Amino acid sequence: MAKSALLKSSIGKKYWMALTGLFLCVFLIGHLVGNLQLIYASDLQFNQYAHFMTTNPAVKVLSYLTYFSILFHAVDGILLTIQNKKARPVGYAKNNAAANSTWQSRNMAVLGTLLLVFIVTHMTNFWAKMHFSEMPLQTQVLATPMGDVEMYNTTSGSFIEKQQVEMGGLELKNGKEFYIPNSDLKFAEGYKDLYKITVDFFKNPVNNMGLIATILYVLSMAVLSFHLLHGFKSAFQSLGLNHTKYNGIIKCAGTAFAIIVPLLFAIIPVYIHFVK
Ligand code: HEM
Repeated sequence: MAKSALLKSSIGKKYWMALTGLFLCVFLIGHLVGNLQLIYASDLQFNQYAHFMTTNPAVKVLSYLTYFSILFHAVDGILLTIQNKKARPVGYAKNNAAANSTWQSRNMAVLGTLLLVFIVTHMTNFWAKMHFSEMPLQTQVLATPMGDVEMYNTTSGSFIEKQQVEMGGLELKNGKEFYIPNSDLKFAEGYKDLYKITVDFFKNPVNNMGLIATILYVLSMAVLSFHLLHGFKSAFQSLGLNHTKYNGIIKCAGTAFAIIVPLLFAIIPVYIHFVK
């Protein structure tokens, strides 16, 4: 391949890596704000939020964009690393790399690969359960002697709501909706108990699995932090936003983002494991 074509395609790859990377940063903010509810909100609020996030059509489009961005960012990153290695077979190490670049900038591919392993494991543990497997439901429906229907939170036992039905009798349908036979067909929706799944995951006492998961999550957030420390400001450069006037602000914002976001993420499993 001609050198200019190689440069061109490598610049193109960097451009798309930057765009998908910045989109993933926006995802991280949304995901963090949602997950912080595990600390301060009630189980019902968190499950209602999770229900909204998995059923709202606009959010679904954003989710598909997120999956696509993760795949694209990862594949593009691997191709760029291979391309750079081919173009520079001697490598940085011989050129006093430590003095000319940061540790994280030289290890973006390793950090990115570790993050990919984290994301795949993480999605298997939570996202796949939420979308594809049988989940405990948060609501429990009991018929009272009056023929009313009361809904309870199965996790906390607290009362949620009461509905009038003409005749008693309940039937569970699809594990999700409650069909009330011989009445004017009322449906009550039970929320998938993602709160319980998440809390049980980090508190699992069997073989200290909860503690191990918590430690692995904290380590993964350290990896995320290093990846963002270089990635955030590098994305602006790749997009051509490289102006002496703004470079200082971008660097500060990038450093703050790379520290604060993973730190807040890390607090969630630590809080669940040790405090809840
Ligand atoms: C450490 C704290 C975190 C907790 C407690 C947490 C929790 C969750 C839960 C419960 C879900 C399932 C929700 C659903 O499918 O709607 C989920 C999905 C997901 N998480 Fe996390 N997460 C954390 C950190 C992260 C980080 C740091 C990343 C990325 C680097 C990430 C990437 C994802 C992705 C891509 C999904 C699928 C989202 C979607 O379907 O739109 N998570 N997470």
